[in-house]
Amino acid sequence: MTVYEYRAGLEGVPVTQSGISFVDGQKGVLEYRGIPIQELATKSTFLETAYLLIWKELPTQEELEDFEYEIRYHRRLKYRIRDMMKCFPESGHPMDALQACAAALGLFYSRRALDDPTYVRAAVVRLLAKIPTMVAAFQLMRKGNDPVQPRDDLGYAANFLYMLSEKEPDPFAARIFEVGLILHAEHTINASTFSAMVTASTLTDPYAVIAAAVGTLAGPLHGGASEEVIEMLETIGSVENVRPYLDDRLQRKARIMGFGHRVYKVKDPRATILQQLAEQLFEKFGQDKYYDIATELERAVEEKLGHKGIYPNVDFYSGLVYRKLGIPTDLFTPVFAISRAAGWLAHWREQLGENRIFRPTQIYTGLHSSPYISIDDR
Ligand code: COA
Repeated sequence: MTVYEYRAGLEGVPVTQSGISFVDGQKGVLEYRGIPIQELATKSTFLETAYLLIWKELPTQEELEDFEYEIRYHRRLKYRIRDMMKCFPESGHPMDALQACAAALGLFYSRRALDDPTYVRAAVVRLLAKIPTMVAAFQLMRKGNDPVQPRDDLGYAANFLYMLSEKEPDPFAARIFEVGLILHAEHTINASTFSAMVTASTLTDPYAVIAAAVGTLAGPLHGGASEEVIEMLETIGSVENVRPYLDDRLQRKARIMGFGHRVYKVKDPRATILQQLAEQLFEKFGQDKYYDIATELERAVEEKLGHKGIYPNVDFYSGLVYRKLGIPTDLFTPVFAISRAAGWLAHWREQLGENRIFRPTQIYTGLHSSPYISIDDR
């Protein structure tokens, strides 16, 4: 009989062979298709990066223009999706709204021609184009406003900020937001990507794949951490409270949100870039009092937990950046989903390329041949 070793959380267990992204958790390296994240953050746009992830190579000028054009063309939502959203409770979490809308797209485009490149391209375009519109529409609708139509003259990042605030964003703020999208676009086999791969491996439609991934990203141990970071900084309230707060949490063996990572044992390179972006934003648009609390917390956590490899992860500074851009706290995770959709779609395509349905095994710890006890005797 084969003896299997059980690894909780599949830690260290390869579940695929992938050429999409690479992480060196000891050196703090992240590459998309071999290109260091720092290069992409300074030189690329989100749609160019998405193209690179999904179609393996940087696009030519013409390929990029075609892709951008298609995305612009498909940004609008069907009125039936908007009507469906109107029935959602305003108090519902925007991630639940996004998951429902992503799944609902499958009702309109359900043909599963997964071996037809035209169908695959159209699904990629529709999802990348419509997810930001869905997030912005839910935000306006829950405030009782009508959603605004996307603006064709604005780029991907600027258009999202416009749809959210109904004001044309400052170009510097839009660029910072765009870099945030690039940084969150892909990160090897995290929980939501794995969820997307498992769902893709059944050969279901791509809308179901993305809906499954959105549901997985929503959890507080994954994408939901950035919201909790802001709540934590608000609870701490002042620089003086940082160390008492940390000591109390550690005594109760509670997690410090925005710290620690299964793979990185040094500061997440994305956190380093996001911290720089936060500083640039504060310089231009004014300080945020929570930034001082955050940097003091980083110092204190490093002193107490650095020996365990616990350092800031991507979620620690992203919330401060989004807050300064005027994005409400409970939209941080949907914004993460807008960006990570690129990585999910890249893994969807890769999974289809050499598909075998996921069907792992288990180590059974239950009983055998147990008697059925009739209800009167229990
Ligand atoms: N705060 C305090 N201690 C932490 C910690 C945190 N955020 N993250 C990990 N640790 C400690 C654990 O208590 C454990 O200590 P021990 O070995 O003394 O018991 C050790 O570090 C290893 O933790 P483990 O739970 O095995 O790590 P993991 O790889 O399973 O978990 C995370 C990774 C991301 C889920 C975890 O670090 C976490 O919960 N972080 C907070 C949530 C977060 O920011 N998520 C966003 C991730 S991008």
